[in-house]
Amino acid sequence: MQYHRYGGSEVLAVEEVEEPHAGPGRVRIAVRATGVTPADWYLRSGMLQDFVSLDLPHVPGMDAAGIVDEVGEGVTGTAVGDAVFGLVPFVDQGGAAAEYAVLEAWAPKPRSWSFGEAGGAAGNIDTATRVLEALDAVEGMTLLIEGAAGGVGTITAQLARARGLTVIGTASESNHGFLKGLGVVPVTYGPGLADRLAALAPHGVDVVLDAAGKGSLAELVAIVGDPHRVVTIADFDAARHGVRFSRSEAGESPGWAGLPLAADLADQGRLTVPLHAAFPLKETAAAHDVSAAGHARGKIIITVP
Ligand SMILES: NC(=O)c1ccc[n+]([C@@H]2O[C@H](COP(=O)([O-])OP(=O)(O)OC[C@H]3O[C@@H](n4cnc5c(N)ncnc54)[C@H](OP(=O)(O)O)[C@@H]3O)[C@@H](O)[C@H]2O)c1
Repeated sequence: MQYHRYGGSEVLAVEEVEEPHAGPGRVRIAVRATGVTPADWYLRSGMLQDFVSLDLPHVPGMDAAGIVDEVGEGVTGTAVGDAVFGLVPFVDQGGAAAEYAVLEAWAPKPRSWSFGEAGGAAGNIDTATRVLEALDAVEGMTLLIEGAAGGVGTITAQLARARGLTVIGTASESNHGFLKGLGVVPVTYGPGLADRLAALAPHGVDVVLDAAGKGSLAELVAIVGDPHRVVTIADFDAARHGVRFSRSEAGESPGWAGLPLAADLADQGRLTVPLHAAFPLKETAAAHDVSAAGHARGKIIITVP
């Protein structure tokens, strides 16, 4: 699946391309599923052109699960035939919405997850781990997640619960039952959040993840009382509020260590990947459009035949 120019989802097309190969320290997989993240359609639309210049044509997709069919020089502990899930080399390069993809960081696929669930997990585990580390999130704290019902929110909430935190998450009313099922105390987002939280967390909130980027940073900082205890992954106005913006960078990420830990949690039945919708590769455009509608409940994935 690729596009030759920026534009709406109609620029996406299935085409024949050269197979990628595993370089040193990497593996190639025969892809069974890949995740869709908002960045896939931000990049495709061209809205990030000033910050990220894609080498067009571009194959979208930043994480995937599948069967290892090439092992690069220097890789130990992974063999051809292993089922794994992981991240493509520096995510902006894409490449996962394809029959074969190269992974730079990976872990064994948990037995308890389908390939679809595993295919949509790695990016959000990387992000959640990076953010929880940045917030020094430890047992006993209360974490507030703005935008808890989406891909990042659902994974961050469960990883935080596994670390022993109490998690309060904002979502629309229709997602409150869903969040409760993940062990999250739900609350509605929007004006008056501080008042609603006062009733839910009388001892206050210790740390905040803004996973929505809907302009609520001023209120989130006021709630926690210190901008250093807020991290956003989605609000480009972060610096104005003294808030850290966390994003993936080229090279090793602190989030990679989260992949094997998350796989262990999954096999203990403590980490699920709720799927909002699954589309076959040829319907990637529809998957991008559903993501762009902004109300995914969990993860959107693409399955590869
Ligand atoms: N910097 C990074 O490393 C990084 C990594 C991954 C993602 N991101 C960014 O983080 C954001 C979230 O990503 P995602 O994959 O979790 O997206 P997603 O799966 O599309 O999440 C959408 C969620 O946003 C919620 N939402 C919509 N309007 C909201 C509002 N006003 N307040 C609070 N929540 C609201 C929706 O809940 P309701 O349906 O209940 O409204 C829905 O569950 C995106 O902007 C993405 O680009 C950044």
